[in-house]
Amino acid sequence: MTRKTILLLPGDGIGPEIVAEARKLLDWLTAQGHASFYMEEGLIGGAAYDQTGNPLPEETVIRARQADAVLLGAVGGPKWEPLPYEVRPERGLLGIRKVLDLYCNLRPAKVFPQLVDASTLKREVVDGTDIMVVRELSSGIYFGNPRGVETMDNGEKRGFNTLVYTTSEIERIAKSAFQLAMLRQKKLCSVDKANVLESTELWREVVIEVGKSFPEVALSHMYVDNAAMQLIRNPRQFDVIVTTNMFGDILSDEASMLTGSIGMLPSASLGEPFALYEPIHGSAPDIAGRGVANPLATILSVAMMCRHSLRLPDLADRIEGAVNRVLDQGLRTPDILQPGTQQVGTVAMGDAVLAALSESFS
Ligand code: IPM
Ligand code: MG
Repeated sequence: MTRKTILLLPGDGIGPEIVAEARKLLDWLTAQGHASFYMEEGLIGGAAYDQTGNPLPEETVIRARQADAVLLGAVGGPKWEPLPYEVRPERGLLGIRKVLDLYCNLRPAKVFPQLVDASTLKREVVDGTDIMVVRELSSGIYFGNPRGVETMDNGEKRGFNTLVYTTSEIERIAKSAFQLAMLRQKKLCSVDKANVLESTELWREVVIEVGKSFPEVALSHMYVDNAAMQLIRNPRQFDVIVTTNMFGDILSDEASMLTGSIGMLPSASLGEPFALYEPIHGSAPDIAGRGVANPLATILSVAMMCRHSLRLPDLADRIEGAVNRVLDQGLRTPDILQPGTQQVGTVAMGDAVLAALSESFS
């Protein structure tokens, strides 16, 4: 069995609590001989700033490059909001995405049948939703130059950012999305604002060009405002959505609410050869340290890691199966609590997943 090194970056807020539950599974799998994981922990975000003055210490980058995969908890919190932009916790996250060139962000929004009534939308709208949002993650307006806030001659301030995409940047994310669509329902919707923004007019052109190599995939295009509306009108019309960094940020939060709780959704940020996995929810400072955070998105991120980086698809299936079983058993953290279910905390939820995982081997 080849040993895989996993770098854990717990980060801030509920990050350490939920990553600890993921680690419990990984350590158990190693102890039982079902896998061979070597775990390292590193600093990122506000926790890194507090200890080193830098939200992304060089040592974290070096270890991330050496690891087979990185699992991140969450970054940020009110404590660091007064800091200048360059050292905010979020800069650590954006920085690691950029330096590892993690351009392809997969954000599945799949409704668990057990949680369908936890959505704020009607059951008949969300039932059966299974969408993969493919978000471009290392370019676009998040990273474009020029950017900044300047003072003009008349003393007034002017803030500006630049939405920029090159052909090759669009080509590689489009290719990833088409390849993924081939493994799913073979439907791809590219979301842009080509009626207003030239850079996304180019986006549309390049996506169409890449699509010529994937004749089996039904390609459609939608403006982002319409897509935001269609997502809650009729989410089942979507299979794979591919979009820019900022549109993907917004639409993936929206899509998460179809599933009942943002606390359930994992993500993968893929480059070549690096990859980072994280729950899509944030650091939730309001509930940090109270032992009530939902660890399932992080645990499901471990499943994505097993599938996409570690080439352990069987383990990915088992972990996802274990999560399904605890939901079947009626165990719920407060964010997904429904009448007739049993409330548990972070650690008890992790223990239950571990028990179900262990059962899958017996
Ligand atoms: C996300 C988050 C980040 C983003 C923040 C924390 C910088 O919202 O991963 O979706 O905007 O990309
Ligand atoms: Mg976001």
